[in-house]
Amino acid sequence: MAELLFDGDLSLLRDLTIAVIGYGNQGSVQAKILRENGLNVIVGNVRDEYWRRAESDGFKVYEIREAVRRADAALLLVPDEVAPEVYYSEIDEELRRKSFFILDFASGYNIAYGLIKPAPSADVVMVAPRMFAWGILERHRLGLGYPVLLGVAQNASGRAWDYALALAKGIGAIGLPGGAALKSSFEEEAFLDLLSEHTYIPLLIASIIAYFEVATKIYGASPEATILELYASGELAEQARAMAEEGLIEQLKHHSRTSQYGQLTRIRRYYDVIREIVESEADEIWSGEFAREFAEEKYSGMILMNRLKEIFGSSDLVKVERKLLKAIKEGKLD
Ligand code: NAI
Repeated sequence: MAELLFDGDLSLLRDLTIAVIGYGNQGSVQAKILRENGLNVIVGNVRDEYWRRAESDGFKVYEIREAVRRADAALLLVPDEVAPEVYYSEIDEELRRKSFFILDFASGYNIAYGLIKPAPSADVVMVAPRMFAWGILERHRLGLGYPVLLGVAQNASGRAWDYALALAKGIGAIGLPGGAALKSSFEEEAFLDLLSEHTYIPLLIASIIAYFEVATKIYGASPEATILELYASGELAEQARAMAEEGLIEQLKHHSRTSQYGQLTRIRRYYDVIREIVESEADEIWSGEFAREFAEEKYSGMILMNRLKEIFGSSDLVKVERKLLKAIKEGKLD
């Protein structure tokens, strides 16, 4: 079994200045929890609305380069696609002047694909939450931790794993009920993250779209009833929660026997086709083909991604969904 760890030593970070670079989803949440844990946190950001948000939350905010200059550790929490540019324009030079520094990432992508090659004098660690930022905050308010994957790409100090664990504790992941840190690597995290994003999540959404088209356009089902059945009721979210808490197959016991029979036989029917899809996507990720594809897309200004957002975002399903969700929220029809 992979090594699971449940606590870290916060005292390792007590005398350090920690710069949180980027005050978005993860940055704002991680900065607040680190500060709550008594650590010395500053924020590095470009001058945009996130800068103002960090200031109004009571943080000292600096230009990114200046924050890194003042710090002993930095959490690089800007979007993955801008991180290499931010690293090479603002961070690398400062880091090369220091004999000790901890550079922390919340995802493995840029290190795994060699898009950032940090100065060798730094410890390079990964504390990657397996949780949306709002989920982290919600759990934190309840006194709960959450799972993270840890990685070490450079261990200049010889204590990089200890620092990764200390950071995991600092951001409220471990040392609390429900928290766990799994020893992993930048490469494993990037691979698993991309494989989810390329297989079961899009397969689920493609199934939902196809189901909607068939049920409403061929079989005349009401679009509203169809969307409620598919996901708007929240039953799907409950099923996902039961999987996490009780197990993938064990949770089937909450369903009727007709449902259990239908699900199990169809899992068997589709398995081979899906397995082939997963193997082919895994191959694209492992070989670096996807990273090259995404680099080209980024270079072209994200034309394809924006076009697809427009196409899927203006579908009949989305039009009905908007009205339905609004009506349910407000308790009335327009
Ligand atoms: P985000 O999109 O919320 O980041 C916004 C921040 O990035 C802002 O402070 C903004 O000023 C800064 N920023 C944006 N473009 C910039 C640029 N060109 N130059 C300098 N700064 C720029 O990012 P998010 O979602 O918090 O992701 C941060 C890291 O956390 C990523 O590595 C991501 O993979 C990882 N992660 C995110 C999760 C989430 O809940 N969204 C979950 C787990 C990991």
